[in-house]
Amino acid sequence: MKKVTKAVFPAAGMGTRFLPATKANPKEMLPIVDKPLIQYAAEEAVAAGITDLIFIIGRTKRAIADHFDKAYELEVELETRGKLKALQDLRDMLPSHVNCIYIRQAEALGLGHAVQCAQSAVNDEPFVVILADDLIDAEPGVVKQMCDVYDYYQCSVVGVQEVAPEETASYGIVACDPMAERISRVTRIVEKPKPADAPSNLGVVGRYVLTPRIFDHLKRIERGAGGELQLTDAIQSMLQEQQVLAYAYQGTRYDCGSKVGYLEATVEYAMKHPEVAEEFTAYLKNRFCGPCDRP
Ligand code: UTP
Repeated sequence: MKKVTKAVFPAAGMGTRFLPATKANPKEMLPIVDKPLIQYAAEEAVAAGITDLIFIIGRTKRAIADHFDKAYELEVELETRGKLKALQDLRDMLPSHVNCIYIRQAEALGLGHAVQCAQSAVNDEPFVVILADDLIDAEPGVVKQMCDVYDYYQCSVVGVQEVAPEETASYGIVACDPMAERISRVTRIVEKPKPADAPSNLGVVGRYVLTPRIFDHLKRIERGAGGELQLTDAIQSMLQEQQVLAYAYQGTRYDCGSKVGYLEATVEYAMKHPEVAEEFTAYLKNRFCGPCDRP
């Protein structure tokens, strides 16, 4: 039985909803309090036993590689200034047994194309795809939850959640037959259907475990929704030959690809951040409850 040890992080999208912040920086580098989204995603993968992190980078290619590279000058500077906690945090960012691989997607042709770019690094192994702009607060992390499902059923798994019926056009939507607690067998998957055409209100979120067969299907698909090469269409094609499961993950998701989702995540993570929680929560109380709430 092959364990999942590789994770692909597509981070070459245009990030148009966050312009101009994403003009020179990928959306995945936006921070939630003090950590960029891509780091939360990498930590979730590492906690699930992933050892190879494959980043698909685009136009703004340097930022993510720079973030995970060792920063010798910065480390020396922190040591000289006695900022030892910050130094340790930097050194602990990723364990030393973890490899980072960077692959360039020259043109943002869609999520399906971004995943296809990872083929040479993934080879013939099952792998995880993590969209870092879907930040999911969960314990254990959703990648771990889904790798456990993969280990048991040995087939592809997509993370799903219920979405509001009027929001189906923002998601890949699955039709499925229930199989076990939180697990269903996908019978159809369609990218961004209008509410009237949606086969259900179960939307795919940014976590996938895929078998390497997906690469054959990615080669075959044509441009789909939004004129992009869609991962969803390759999964639909793969359904003809392999079982795919939908897994209703446990956790709270923040859609950090949207401004409101990003702001919600910032507030929630700040309210439990050891350094700022107390002061920030007091600020919020004062701001929204006013003097009536003061002792
Ligand atoms: P989105 O659909 O959120 O698109 O991509 P986007 O370009 O990042 O953002 P908006 O909609 O213009 O604001 C979903 C994920 O797929 C990656 C993105 O980086 C994001 O993680 N992606 C998308 C690629 O890596 N390459 C692509 O060609 C498209």
